[in-house]
Amino acid sequence: MSKYTIVQISDLHIGEASYRRDMVVTAIEEINEIKPNLVVVCGDLTWNAIREQFLEARDLLQNIDSPQIVTMGNHDAFNVGYLTFEELFGPRYAEYQDESVFVMAVDSSEPDLNTGHVGREGRGFIDQAFSKADEKLLKIFALHHHLVPVPRSGRERDSMVDAGDMLELLMHKGVSLVLSGHRHYPWLWRLENMVLSYSGTCGSPRLRGSPCQNYNIIKIDKNNIEISTKLIGGPTRRRGKYRWGKRGITSG
Ligand SMILES: [Fe+2]
Ligand SMILES: [Fe+2]
Repeated sequence: MSKYTIVQISDLHIGEASYRRDMVVTAIEEINEIKPNLVVVCGDLTWNAIREQFLEARDLLQNIDSPQIVTMGNHDAFNVGYLTFEELFGPRYAEYQDESVFVMAVDSSEPDLNTGHVGREGRGFIDQAFSKADEKLLKIFALHHHLVPVPRSGRERDSMVDAGDMLELLMHKGVSLVLSGHRHYPWLWRLENMVLSYSGTCGSPRLRGSPCQNYNIIKIDKNNIEISTKLIGGPTRRRGKYRWGKRGITSG
């Protein structure tokens, strides 16, 4: 694989009190300078899934020059938000493929609940999608909720209720990278041959100890994956570097 860059953003939270539209606008300007091959948006576009909030999210994300894949978050699932999401952003289960990566993004939200859930039918769909993916491609899975708890989350109460089944499936399918948002705190876990990359928030004031809103930059080449957190309008902090190959993540 030649050099490939993914930007992972999430939790815009348009409509939240003290929502930082200025940070989201600056992030998009920065992303267009980075010129990533792909932008993955890991959900919580809105505060409570009001149509105007989704429209603002669509208008902002349209300013990104790179291809993008977008997932729903729990905040996008209030008020029957999935209908507006599908109208403006397309299918809630979406695939993206190019000459380097195969990405599957799923809706892990449940109407009017904060917990995440994919379920047996969803897992069957994920199983089929990764089974047909070219083995040469880096396999990436994106969802809003976290599969392993995140530090600085306070009392853990809205993780995936079927996280164990999801982790087993993703490992079995040779997924190397799992991208999530939700808890507004950037973090990395390595588990077996996978790395779980969590992005912070790029628009919410709820920063959970981060100095400002942020997003992740993932740089991939033939042998390495390097993941950094970019503070919006500020410095980039390297968080982890991993070796990867046919057997997924092998060290780091
Ligand atoms: Fe959020
Ligand atoms: Fe969330």
